[in-house]
Amino acid sequence: MKIVYYSGTGNTEKMAKLIGEGVQLSGSDVELVEVSNITKEELLKEEVLILGSPACGVESIEETVMEPLIDSLEGEINGKKVALFGSYSWGQGEWMEDWEDKMKSYGADIIVNSLILLEDPFGNEDECREFGKAIIEYVK
Ligand SMILES: Cc1cc2nc3c(=O)[nH]c(=O)nc-3n(C[C@H](O)[C@H](O)[C@H](O)COP(=O)(O)O)c2cc1C
Repeated sequence: MKIVYYSGTGNTEKMAKLIGEGVQLSGSDVELVEVSNITKEELLKEEVLILGSPACGVESIEETVMEPLIDSLEGEINGKKVALFGSYSWGQGEWMEDWEDKMKSYGADIIVNSLILLEDPFGNEDECREFGKAIIEYVK
């Protein structure tokens, strides 16, 4: 399993690591990949797209690398299993709702409730691990 994320100040990256722990605890291999280091073609080889982005811009996913990659998935992910997560600070989680809606409009199957956390995942480590475990339980 690859966990593909963007993180400006480390919060979403910490979530990715904890989610990875949950994936490993469920018996799957995991690789954390910063979004700049993967192509669309490599991403599409994955059984599940596990994707993380903080709220950036004005209630948007990260706009220079993550958003173009996501937009390029239109027409390519019908029926694809997807799990989304990320950190935010001051909004109501609107960026994640919009991200889910976009993925669904591309035909993706959101297999677990998206995980959003306010800033640092400190105190919510188990929630992150459970998210990782839930993904693996779904695909087993
Ligand atoms: C340029 C910029 C724009 C942001 N826009 C939002 C936003 O629209 N809504 C929100 O809740 N948080 C917003 N944030 C806060 C980040 O989502 C928050 O700090 C998050 O924890 C950063 O995660 P990271 O450490 O993985 O980069 C913004 C932060 C930056 C730097």
